[in-house]
Amino acid sequence: MTVTVRAPAKINLHLGVGSVRDDGFHPLDTVYQAISLYDDVTVSEAAAWTVEVEPVGDVDVAGVPLDDDNIAIRAGLLLTEHHQVSRRARISIGKGIPVAGGMAGGSADAAATLVALDRLWDLQTSDDDLLALAAELGSDVPFALIGGTARGTGRGELVDPVTDAGTWWWVVVPDADGLATPTVYRAFDDLATGSGDTAPAAPDLLLAALATADADAFASALHNDLAAPAMLLRPDLRATAADVRAAGARAALLSGSGPTFLGLASGQEQALRVRDALVTDGRRALVATGPVAGAHVVQYV
Ligand code: C5P
Repeated sequence: MTVTVRAPAKINLHLGVGSVRDDGFHPLDTVYQAISLYDDVTVSEAAAWTVEVEPVGDVDVAGVPLDDDNIAIRAGLLLTEHHQVSRRARISIGKGIPVAGGMAGGSADAAATLVALDRLWDLQTSDDDLLALAAELGSDVPFALIGGTARGTGRGELVDPVTDAGTWWWVVVPDADGLATPTVYRAFDDLATGSGDTAPAAPDLLLAALATADADAFASALHNDLAAPAMLLRPDLRATAADVRAAGARAALLSGSGPTFLGLASGQEQALRVRDALVTDGRRALVATGPVAGAHVVQYV
């Protein structure tokens, strides 16, 4: 018996970050959107936990750990511990989400593994328990379960779907060198020193633009508080943003903690044109649309 679950990449349409909490995490007020780049996770019963990773397209999978540090194995261990069962599985990941790119590829794998193993072993984990286990694995794993467009609060793990009347087209520009999320948050702290106890900025303008699918308001409401620290660490990302705009995107947005950049297009055809212009310039670029569904079973044989 094998089960395959597909989970999407996420981007943050609004990422408001507040002052660091006592536990080292930052309070967030964010709007996530799931977009059409996916990891497919296939599980089957085995004598020991193993994980293997196959690239989809030209995704560089060199940075993915293949031991117990892999977040998919950690998801399996957490789920079996929760149900007090001693079963193990072989986990195969088909990776279409850029690694260490600020698109929550590892979180997608964790969410997909929870759903796949729950189905493989008919564990009937409740939605609330799945979300709680997901939150233990990482701040944006619960969002990978629900997908769509959702507001994230707390450290990002508390997710509520929001009305999104649009179909949005993105050009995704992955970067060859990953950026570690904790490093970007530390640079955020360094920049914020002296500004006291600040709450994260709320996404009011963005939520209004989503509800009415107002493309102009949407383009100007895109916001990421991690853009400044990421660009401090990686000054070359300014050139990426400029190239994305020069290729015809309506707006350029850093994805999460980066370094992946996103160009907003006005539709599918324009997205393809922006992508082609970037590829002609020698950059990697992919077209994606959102919102799309969260982790879901695609094969059960
Ligand atoms: O929750 P997750 O494991 O994805 O977080 C990875 C790291 O990113 C944390 O250890 C922390 O350094 C940083 N982080 C943060 N505030 C958040 C989410 C993540 O500082 N809200």
